[in-house]
Amino acid sequence: MIPLTFESPAKLNLFLAVTGRRADGFHDLVSVVAPLKWGDTLTAELAEEFSVTSNDPAVPTDSSNLVLKAANVFRRITGYSHGVKFTLEKRIPMGAGLGGGSSNAATALRALNQLAGNPLSLEQLGALAAEVGSDCPLFLNERPMIMRGRGELVQGLPVKAANRISGRKVLVFKPGFGISTPWAYRQLVDKAPTSYVSPLEAENRLATWLESESPADSLLFNSMEAPAFAKYPALPVLLERLRREFGLAVGMSGSGSACFALLEDNSPVEPVTTLICRSWGESALVLQSRLQ
Ligand code: C5P
Repeated sequence: MIPLTFESPAKLNLFLAVTGRRADGFHDLVSVVAPLKWGDTLTAELAEEFSVTSNDPAVPTDSSNLVLKAANVFRRITGYSHGVKFTLEKRIPMGAGLGGGSSNAATALRALNQLAGNPLSLEQLGALAAEVGSDCPLFLNERPMIMRGRGELVQGLPVKAANRISGRKVLVFKPGFGISTPWAYRQLVDKAPTSYVSPLEAENRLATWLESESPADSLLFNSMEAPAFAKYPALPVLLERLRREFGLAVGMSGSGSACFALLEDNSPVEPVTTLICRSWGESALVLQSRLQ
């Protein structure tokens, strides 16, 4: 059998309002998120057992890998009896807020469903994806989405609004260090409770943008910036310079540490990249892509 190959994209949160802590320890949020036309590649071929290997030695190959977690959930629900050898070509860094692990798991679910003859609908796959991780279901859709609940309740953006996002050129940049998502949420509880946005305000802000004709620039907001910026001043210092010196709309994605700038098609990119590399040094990742 020829292995199946799937793109497993990274995502950017353009809007992320954390609205409060829930009884189960997770946080409720309202977010607008878009996949990038850039990410990892996952191949899947029939085998005796479920297994995963990667070009990146830092990626776990045991059951803590979300691809295997997704595969086991798929087997439990569908009774799928074959094994699958997954090979992951990793480009999305970990601890970046770019959703790499969740994307890989969602892509594995799509691959398994195809190999099994599509027994599950998109909605059923979404329920499985939610078991694997809060950010997972959004990756079953290749377009801008609104996320609610702990992230698992997803809905496509109305077409007119999605058109103000899809195809937009972006520069994504991540410093050499990463940020742990559980750490960032804990900080929100302990040190930055003022970063919560009330559910009403979050919905109002989103509705105002949806009803407007404004570009994605005026949507940018992220509650998680407060804890990340307090610990890592290199992030806000650079973002402020990019705003001031280039007039760019910039923000952090998810719980960080990756940040991004929205670009115009004719924006000069090189001076921006030069400033980022000078500020964050050689360990920084900088890449240009477009939103899906
Ligand atoms: O769902 P996922 O495994 O991606 O979440 C990782 C961790 O991030 C959770 O264990 C929780 O600490 C935190 N989290 C949260 N609220 C969310 C999503 C994640 O508190 N909506």
